[in-house]
Amino acid sequence: MCGIVGIVSSQKNNVVSGLIEGLRRLEYRGYDSSGVAIISENKLLRRRKAGKLVNLEADLKESPVSGNTGIAHTRWATHGIPNDQNAHPHMTDQVAIVHNGIIENYHLLKDQLLEKGVQFTSETDTEVVLHLVNQHLEQGLSPFESVKKTLSVVRGAFAIAMLFRDYPNLLIAARSGPPLAIGYGKEEMYIGSDAVALSHLTQQVTFLEDGDIAVLENSGVKIYNLEGKRVERKIQQSKVGTSSIDKEGFEHFMLKEIHEQPDVIRRTLSEYFNITHTGLHFRPLPFALENVSRLTIVACGTAFYAGMVAKYWFENIARIPVELDIASEFRYRQPPMPKDGISLFISQSGETADTLAAQAYVKSQGQPSLGIINVANSSLARAVDVTFLTQAGPEIGVASTKAFTTQLCVLAVLALAFAQARKTISQEDLTQYCKDLAQLPLLIEQTLLLKKDIAEIARSLLEVNNVLYIGRGPSYPLALEGALKLKEISYIHAEGFAAGELKHGPIALIEESVPTVAIAPYDSLFEKTVSNIQEILSRRGPIVLLSDEKGHSLFTSQAIKRIILPTTSSLIAPMVYAIPTQLLAYYTAVYKGTDVDQPRNLAKSVTVE
Ligand code: G6P
Repeated sequence: MCGIVGIVSSQKNNVVSGLIEGLRRLEYRGYDSSGVAIISENKLLRRRKAGKLVNLEADLKESPVSGNTGIAHTRWATHGIPNDQNAHPHMTDQVAIVHNGIIENYHLLKDQLLEKGVQFTSETDTEVVLHLVNQHLEQGLSPFESVKKTLSVVRGAFAIAMLFRDYPNLLIAARSGPPLAIGYGKEEMYIGSDAVALSHLTQQVTFLEDGDIAVLENSGVKIYNLEGKRVERKIQQSKVGTSSIDKEGFEHFMLKEIHEQPDVIRRTLSEYFNITHTGLHFRPLPFALENVSRLTIVACGTAFYAGMVAKYWFENIARIPVELDIASEFRYRQPPMPKDGISLFISQSGETADTLAAQAYVKSQGQPSLGIINVANSSLARAVDVTFLTQAGPEIGVASTKAFTTQLCVLAVLALAFAQARKTISQEDLTQYCKDLAQLPLLIEQTLLLKKDIAEIARSLLEVNNVLYIGRGPSYPLALEGALKLKEISYIHAEGFAAGELKHGPIALIEESVPTVAIAPYDSLFEKTVSNIQEILSRRGPIVLLSDEKGHSLFTSQAIKRIILPTTSSLIAPMVYAIPTQLLAYYTAVYKGTDVDQPRNLAKSVTVE
């Protein structure tokens, strides 16, 4: 989603390369155009281009700009197609703006501005903020007063950064929703959508709170709330390293991240789970697990499917009622939140707008909340009562892989901790589950060795237009996640179904050209899934079967393409079976020649609703 970088410097050096490097580090969020504006000899100069950052760099090479103060942006289109005109920064003679988020009342504000004769040059909602600030400046207000007055009439979720021709040592940034970080340099100050955007410039950061307006000069920052009162915000040491994240020899970030899973799972498990003594060591929580009457799990996308897998664990192993919803629905449902209940939010980025709003609702209802989050210091990590960090490290590929499996690991351990506290598990079973978890990194290493076979099967998907995924129990959410992975990066239409639900509709889609990926570890539900697979085979539907030796041995049909996975226990099967679904999507996308790491239309961090 849109990325913002800003630099105000006293030094004579040109800030453009620092801005562009910041944009490069924000590319992973997903975008479709980029741009930069700087103050140069009492003028605002701008370059902006649709498409990838290389287009902007080529433009800058042809017609360079330079200056000590500038803002830059990667745009993920919301209002208006991704072309040069809609790309940010937007500017008048005296002010330039970059914006992430949505101005919800922009129609109304635009009509008022049009009536006053203001001319718009783009289809964006951003431009109304620009013109409002511009008008206030023309009426003689200071930049700060102009921004403050504008924000008092603007509704929506936004992060903005602005540049003023007549104030070469000034940037103003404001946040109401999407995150913004302020960075501290030597006689330089920075603004970034996140600490990653500033990691080449500084490790000292302050995260703005909702409603904050930050006034930056090269010597420092002053932060105000919407009423105009000075507020203090903590300076923190960023946890992001200085080096740019690279592919380390892999063709794509996604492939690198798939291969990192044994390591990051090992690291994540060791945070929460003592492998030597097969014990569980959770930090003390501000409430007793045994008294929790209901667990509400809320998330978006892949993180939601992790929560859906965990619902089976929390219910079966810990015998706790679970309510599960996607955040965009949950936040507007006004659900009653029972006393003694707790809520669990799962998010890789910790910045997903809907998940943040859902957490705010739960908080307003007086319920404590837990977060399973990959980014420390993220908005969600700061909002929840207790954070369980996944140790996946930065995930750059838009299609989530290692974040998903590490989320599953934390969820599995949390389910066991609940079960132990609620006395719904014997010591013997608990020990066995712990041993299973300890074995997981090794099993994933073995599974990764299957990539050649999986790549071969991916070739057979190149000509198809539709793929179905089926599974039962925890393999059902895995089927949904597998289908999501395939459609996200290969653009092949794919849907996941509960295997038992097939005959209630989806089976009508089965024909020779529609393959079904069946996720079927040999478990207590295996025989039930076998029947569904047979029903598909009888209708000439090709099957890609993900199962273990035992499961495969029960099928003789030539119409089956086989991925033979290591034998796993039921608890860890979802983490192991996630790997072939990731690889299948990956290789299909590679053969199709799509942009695997930044698939069209998608954003990594969804900071608008
Ligand atoms: C986007 C990403 C997905 C992710 C979802 C939720 O759609 O492309 O990969 O699962 O947002 O993001 P979160 O950061 O909250 O896990």
